[in-house]
Amino acid sequence: MICRAAAALAIAAQQEAKVAPDLKFEVASLKPSPPGGRGGGIRPSTGGERYIGTNVPLKAFIRVAWRIKDDQISGVLDYVVQNFAKEPFKELKTRNIPDKNPAAASADSIARGEQMFLLRCTGCHGRKADGKGPNSLDILPHPRNFRNHWFVESVPDRRLFESIQYGVQGTAMPSWIDIFTPNDVGDIVNFIRSLQNARK
Ligand code: HEC
Repeated sequence: MICRAAAALAIAAQQEAKVAPDLKFEVASLKPSPPGGRGGGIRPSTGGERYIGTNVPLKAFIRVAWRIKDDQISGVLDYVVQNFAKEPFKELKTRNIPDKNPAAASADSIARGEQMFLLRCTGCHGRKADGKGPNSLDILPHPRNFRNHWFVESVPDRRLFESIQYGVQGTAMPSWIDIFTPNDVGDIVNFIRSLQNARK
């Protein structure tokens, strides 16, 4: 996959580009980032002959590395997917969302939820869960502020479960269905709700 995809990228990008850039892909490795992957960005290596992109969409990577415009690379992604992707994109899984939180809101559950939150969610939602994580600044819509009791109290468990398990389409909020069990999500929801109780 790796080298053939690189060659295909070069050819397809040249075909698409109105002003053909002289693209060369000597080594390219492409692998999907897990949801919530951190430390994204594109940087040139020393000497500027190679680019290393981490946790960035392929299209953004091509645009930056070869200084071409979005519309010049419009066909490349389809080309790569059709010719080289091993499996077609998966259909959306049927959603399986509990109506009620399966985890009782014990102190243990809240503590487990807090641990998972600190590990996975603070980059966007902030260490104080106030929506002001280091990655939040250039994300629109901004990550939710869980200190906003109006929001947290107005949404049922089912809604929080759906957003955490499946992500919020069209926003940066990723899906965690492959990472957390329903009980894990329950612990996180208990933690988020405990922030409101603490304030009363
Ligand atoms: C890459 C950034 C990012 C990460 C990491 C992230 N979130 Fe979010 N989250 C967002 C954004 C952006 C929104 C706002 C979506 C919106 O406005 O609907 C959001 C919204 C939410 C919501 C509210 C959704 C709704 O229904 O309105 C919940 C709950 C949530 N996140 C929980 C979490 C939890 C729990 C984690 C960690 C396991 C997490 N998020 C990690 C970016 C992130």
